[in-house]
Amino acid sequence: MPVVDLSQHAEEFNADPYPVYAKLRADGPAHMVRTPAGGETWLIVGHEEAKAALADPRFAKDWRPLAEEGYVELPVSSNMLETDPPQHTRLRKLVAREFTPRRIEALRPRVQEVTDRLLDTMLAAPGRTADLVDSLAFPLPMTVISELIGVPDLDREAFRVLSNQAVAPIEDDGGESVRKIGEYLAGLIEAKRSASPADDLLSALIRARDEDGDQLSHDELIGMAFLLLVAGHETTVNLISNGVRALLTHPGQLAALRADFDGLIDGAVEEMLRYDGPVETATYRFTKEPVLVGDTLIPAGAPVLIALASAGRDPLRHADPDRFDIRRTPQSHLAFGHGIHFCLGAPLARMEGRIAVRSLLERAPDLQLAAETSEFEWLPGMLIRGVRHLPVRW
Ligand code: HEM
Repeated sequence: MPVVDLSQHAEEFNADPYPVYAKLRADGPAHMVRTPAGGETWLIVGHEEAKAALADPRFAKDWRPLAEEGYVELPVSSNMLETDPPQHTRLRKLVAREFTPRRIEALRPRVQEVTDRLLDTMLAAPGRTADLVDSLAFPLPMTVISELIGVPDLDREAFRVLSNQAVAPIEDDGGESVRKIGEYLAGLIEAKRSASPADDLLSALIRARDEDGDQLSHDELIGMAFLLLVAGHETTVNLISNGVRALLTHPGQLAALRADFDGLIDGAVEEMLRYDGPVETATYRFTKEPVLVGDTLIPAGAPVLIALASAGRDPLRHADPDRFDIRRTPQSHLAFGHGIHFCLGAPLARMEGRIAVRSLLERAPDLQLAAETSEFEWLPGMLIRGVRHLPVRW
């Protein structure tokens, strides 16, 4: 199978991967590619095939059976996204109880309050311009997930730098930022163990036991906190910034939303997730045996990426897929994944997205982009899709 080289025009691909995905889909649902970073992997690009692969246990998440002998495992890897059943089932069960829709719904007033405060500061800026990423899209989810888990205020900026580097590396640091996050979290867990029990998720997870007395080990606590914090830091920011960017470049859609927030905001956020969602490809999977995808046989032991961004633009699933249309008849998308690893934070992300976009547009009735599309700096890599900064004026 010829290798499709995505590294040749990495910058253009990062800025707008959709034409490349369209071409790949037209040629078949699965391809061998060289990623913009240079590694070779299989890439699944069709909606149906992507959905099937996400739910297929032959595509495993546990990379350990394929690791080179003598590999050193970091504690942060003891997490749901790097395990299969039965370990995955066990980890997810222990956290799902602490992460119920009720607990998330109870956060609504706080999410609104944080949004309002951030907008107060942003809209008071001299010159009536700001970077939406720094002013709202990043600090909102970061504050909410940090408060939920119990990460002290003071540590959050340092965490931001490490977390950014972990998911969209500026340069390869050999896993140094991930290791440092692990060390930081180990210290935080020790501190919480010895303090009197606090009312936060990490303290609850330290104490959590299921009916059989099962409990998270020290490494599993680090892995869980790592996954929740990084997922909470690096994804919703791009739902808000990619979504606002789409609205500001589609004035008809923006006007429709402004005219009927109550009726359209939920659908608008789903369309943002489909049209230009934050997670471009799901995390790596590995074939446990040869798997046929369309006419293509992916061999055993191969790395596989599932392009959620491509699935969202598959014309076999979504009519006229390159049109941004907040009134679309909803066809479920894969932006939060599918199957046993379906995003645990989806209800929180949706709530934050709806509150942030609506509050921003209500308080800045003449909001506009303050940069040309060609000026944006796109996050590197194929995992996260978004821009580093989104200059706006009002
Ligand atoms: C718009 C924002 C978000 C998007 C688009 C998103 C997307 C995803 C996707 C695609 C997956 C599956 C990855 C795979 O199968 O390889 C996933 C898993 C996960 N997400 Fe999210 N996510 C978002 C926000 C959040 C937030 C805010 C949290 C935490 C509070 C979170 C926590 C998780 C966790 C724990 C998993 C792993 C679940 C498992 O392995 O069972 N996500 N997310």
